[in-house]
Amino acid sequence: MCGIVGYVGEKQAAPLLLEGLKRLEYRGYDSAGIATLSNGRFTVHRSPGKLSQLIERLNGSYPAGTTGIGHTRWATHGRPTEANAHPQTDCSGNVVAVHNGIFENFPERKAALQAKGHRFTSETDTEVFAHEVEEAFTGDLFAAVQKATRHLRGAYAVVVSSSGEPGVLVTARSGPPIVLGVGQGENFVASDPVALAPWTRDVIFLEDGDVARVSASSLRIADSEGRERERSTHRIVWDAVAAEKGGYRHFMAKEIHEQPTAVAETLGGKVSLETGELSFRGTLLSPESVAGFDRVLLLACGTSWHAALIGKFLIEGMARLPVEVDYGSEFRYRRPVVNERTLTVGISQSGETADTVAALSEARRAGSPLLAIVNMPGSQIARMADAVFPTHAGPEIGVASTKAFTTQLAVLFLVAAKLRESRGLERGLTGEERKALAHLPAALKETLDLEPQLESLAREYQTARDFLFLGRGLHYPVALEGALKLKEISYIHAEGYPAGEMKHGPIALVDEKLPVVVLAPHDGWREKTISNLREVKSRDGIAIVVTTRQDEEIASLADRVLVIPETIPELQPILSVVPLQLFAYHVAVRRGCDVDQPRNLAKSVTVE
Ligand code: F6R
Repeated sequence: MCGIVGYVGEKQAAPLLLEGLKRLEYRGYDSAGIATLSNGRFTVHRSPGKLSQLIERLNGSYPAGTTGIGHTRWATHGRPTEANAHPQTDCSGNVVAVHNGIFENFPERKAALQAKGHRFTSETDTEVFAHEVEEAFTGDLFAAVQKATRHLRGAYAVVVSSSGEPGVLVTARSGPPIVLGVGQGENFVASDPVALAPWTRDVIFLEDGDVARVSASSLRIADSEGRERERSTHRIVWDAVAAEKGGYRHFMAKEIHEQPTAVAETLGGKVSLETGELSFRGTLLSPESVAGFDRVLLLACGTSWHAALIGKFLIEGMARLPVEVDYGSEFRYRRPVVNERTLTVGISQSGETADTVAALSEARRAGSPLLAIVNMPGSQIARMADAVFPTHAGPEIGVASTKAFTTQLAVLFLVAAKLRESRGLERGLTGEERKALAHLPAALKETLDLEPQLESLAREYQTARDFLFLGRGLHYPVALEGALKLKEISYIHAEGYPAGEMKHGPIALVDEKLPVVVLAPHDGWREKTISNLREVKSRDGIAIVVTTRQDEEIASLADRVLVIPETIPELQPILSVVPLQLFAYHVAVRRGCDVDQPRNLAKSVTVE
């Protein structure tokens, strides 16, 4: 949460900072601010609300300076006011700082600094950092930041600048991410390489505990012990255009429509669709390693947790290994039983979700090998894992996850197939699986063609107060995901439920005003799901059914039917979630909601 950007070079910093912040707004949008240094003085502009409000205030008149920092905030300590917006400053305005994270001991440090005469103007923990740097500064900003961080506990990514050492930014991280962007005669700092896409693709990911000094011509990095460090430069292959809306009204719409390509890209290089051979680098899933595992543990949050629930069906069904699924936020507080015979799999779009990171660290401490399914190359989860299976979805900017989910499902299918192979149950993919995978991108395109029907459905039901989503087996997590999409972007209350559980409680909600979305593909659960559909109809509920064939029985029971292409049951969720994404999207648009930046949310949840 919170997006950070910094620039030092020969260009005017302000327009660059604002452009970088635009790309980071998915990390928070409670307030925004920039500070630039010119003639030995900082000019700070801040505004509550979105970045657009700050830009409006500036009204084309950008502050001068070729060194600067910027921030977009997701409020933790202190309300989203102008005073609490970043950059925060020290007593004299000679130090400016931006921060992502939480300094847990800031009340004590604030009191200690106040006792020394420091004057505070905000409720934030970040301001404490600016004053710590002021206190420690004796002409060397790098040394001052090293000293300041020793006084503070918590998770942080900070960038700071001082008029006492112009043309220099110092950044430090412990928890939330920081990347350095390497340019020609200029250098950058950001929370995410996406922010730097227009200017550089060469980035250095800082490690936990690192402190870096960034000037236009040099980069210096030291680790938490103060030892100088060489960190390797990664070339990011995403092009700048991938982080633009590309003619769509919202990132979410673009990302929904990118799913055929994203899934195809994700499969590429991991499987041969001609021979069914699975090519994975590393030894973690080799027959020798897999023989040492007696179960699999899937850890994730939110939408990625829904993917994990589907992963359980895939791995247990295909590889016959027991699977446990947990939320990152719950796992480490329940004294879990994990050891070296457990294969832990972390699933995350951002690779930075604090709860998932902490849960994976816990599993690692217990001796469990770690496999990561992540979308962000070089992210924290990618770096801590023994093996990484990337989802090549490209940047996902819309806060509601869409293409990351379907690509995670594609990878989980391949992981299940690889585990099956290593356990000697099947070599590579079966002919039917190969055919289904080869056809998947086209089937996704066909599913997207249902959009006009979903627009009309959205028009009809946009005013409903509640929704119920039902599914069985692999489609129970799809029901959860459909409900999550709807509630997070349209603010309509929605619940996902296993269809068979409905009679144990939620059926009491069903009346003539309640739309119930029933996932009823032609799989082994169809008959049972149809019984649940009858239960809804006999209580006058409105039934919207997603199925895979023209089906008279379903047609006679449903108020609306959406027929999507049929594939093998293991891959069907990749198709059946698409109409639910489109439905949520169009309901939110009709209700005038901020689709890409729904209230109270942030894309990357880097606080516990
Ligand atoms: C929902 C959504 C969130 C994320 C969750 C985990 O649309 O995007 O629920 O899925 O915050 O994020 P990652 O996958 O980045 O770990």
